[in-house]
Amino acid sequence: MSWKITDITRAWRAPPAFRPAVAADAEALAGLHAASFRIGWEAAEFERLLADRLSRALVATDGPGGRPTGFILTHGVAPEMEILSVAVARTHRGGGIGRALVEKTMARLAAEGFATLFLEVEEGNRPALALYERAGFREIGRRPGYYRDAGGKPVAAIAMRRDLR
Ligand SMILES: CC(C)(COP(=O)(O)OP(=O)(O)OC[C@H]1O[C@@H](n2cnc3c(N)ncnc32)[C@H](O)[C@@H]1OP(=O)(O)O)[C@@H](O)C(=O)NCCC(=O)NCCS
Repeated sequence: MSWKITDITRAWRAPPAFRPAVAADAEALAGLHAASFRIGWEAAEFERLLADRLSRALVATDGPGGRPTGFILTHGVAPEMEILSVAVARTHRGGGIGRALVEKTMARLAAEGFATLFLEVEEGNRPALALYERAGFREIGRRPGYYRDAGGKPVAAIAMRRDLR
């Protein structure tokens, strides 16, 4: 078996820890979001969403008390919830953080009595589609031209659903 540099840097890292997001995370979450999406959200937008009682947000950190390396933000009214955003720092991708964020969120929402989790993802976003399919989401529809790619070309949004009960 051969070692890749990413295996070695990962072996040095503290295992990820997970905790609910708090208002003080807004700046860090805006940074993670801006590094992952073409259209960023301001820290103020994260502050507003984190303060909203209809939101649930989980942060992954580099070990307990470490800096945020990923997050998931959901919003909705029972019994339905929607994933608004999930992102993992590029340096930390491929190590199971995204999957843990989605699975921990599904478990928490199910325990709170939510029945269904929805999301929309850009067609062609292979890492995200793989993450959601592995987590049991199924396509329920498409919105052609909902997004624009880096070159301004229209790209469909794929709507997905996961029952939590
Ligand atoms: C999508 C994203 C959150 C995945 O996070 P991650 O921590 O790298 O994902 P994980 O390591 O937990 O992998 C989850 C599953 O997806 C698959 N996957 C992850 N990256 C992949 C890639 N580049 N290509 C194919 N499959 C991939 C993995 O195989 C894994 O399945 P497994 O657990 O059965 O092996 C991350 O790529 C990201 O932040 N992307 C930019 C933001 C984004 O697109 N968010 C989603 C918007 S809807």
